[in-house]
Amino acid sequence: MASILITGANKGIGLELATRYAAAGNKVFACCRDPDTATALADLAENNELSIIKVSVGDDNSVKNMATQLQDTPIDVLINNAGTIGPKREEQTAYVMDFEGWAETMNINTLAPVRVMQALIPNLRASHNAKVMTVTSQLGAISLDMPMGYAYSASKAAINKYMKLAALELGKENIKVGLVHPGWVQTSMGGPDADITSQESAAGIINVIDNLTASNNGGFWNWNGEVHPW
Ligand SMILES: NC(=O)c1ccc[n+]([C@@H]2O[C@H](COP(=O)([O-])OP(=O)(O)OC[C@H]3O[C@@H](n4cnc5c(N)ncnc54)[C@H](OP(=O)(O)O)[C@@H]3O)[C@@H](O)[C@H]2O)c1
Repeated sequence: MASILITGANKGIGLELATRYAAAGNKVFACCRDPDTATALADLAENNELSIIKVSVGDDNSVKNMATQLQDTPIDVLINNAGTIGPKREEQTAYVMDFEGWAETMNINTLAPVRVMQALIPNLRASHNAKVMTVTSQLGAISLDMPMGYAYSASKAAINKYMKLAALELGKENIKVGLVHPGWVQTSMGGPDADITSQESAAGIINVIDNLTASNNGGFWNWNGEVHPW
């Protein structure tokens, strides 16, 4: 049994990850900003070893409080999943930018995974096989020319670079760090016409996490396990 902490666990891919890890008998810390509306998580908590943690990943103090609550609990897997698409599509282009919205997008998609990971370093150190997986996007790949969602794409490119570097340092103390593109997924973010279900995506992400080792530390994968181009 491993202990798994998932941000943005109240819906979409995060909820499916929480469901699967809990069903497999793991201890799950399911993080969300509004537990009062997280009814699916509350149902899961009834029959599984799942704790719901209220945290706003965009807020330093809230993340510090989360770490304080966890005390010295080892965390084997941290999944940075919470994310936002940011400003309206037409307000994050080459010609128009909602700068306030872009800053908030950076806060949630780029700074928050770092904020959460750094707050949990003692908990990751307490694990014998610690892993940090960040749910990024193919839109963050510099090699992919898809001119849409500039603020979102830039926020994911930035977290890709940060985590690739962090893997070099954290790998020295056996904390493995990876990035995964979850696919185009049928969630509130991906919409109903997306390619795959959140069940397919989460199953794939769990495989990617299982296969993250010291030898491929710092990698970027597609949800189906293929190496993703940077
Ligand atoms: N769906 C896709 O096709 C797709 C493709 C590529 C990458 N991704 C990535 O996959 C991850 C999960 O997305 P999803 O598709 O499952 O989307 P989703 O169903 O919209 O869920 C997003 C999660 O992030 C949380 N979140 C959003 N804004 C937040 C904020 N300002 N502060 C704190 N938490 C916030 C949401 O919490 P609330 O319910 O409280 O808002 C929710 O738990 C994201 O990182 C996303 O960028 C998704």
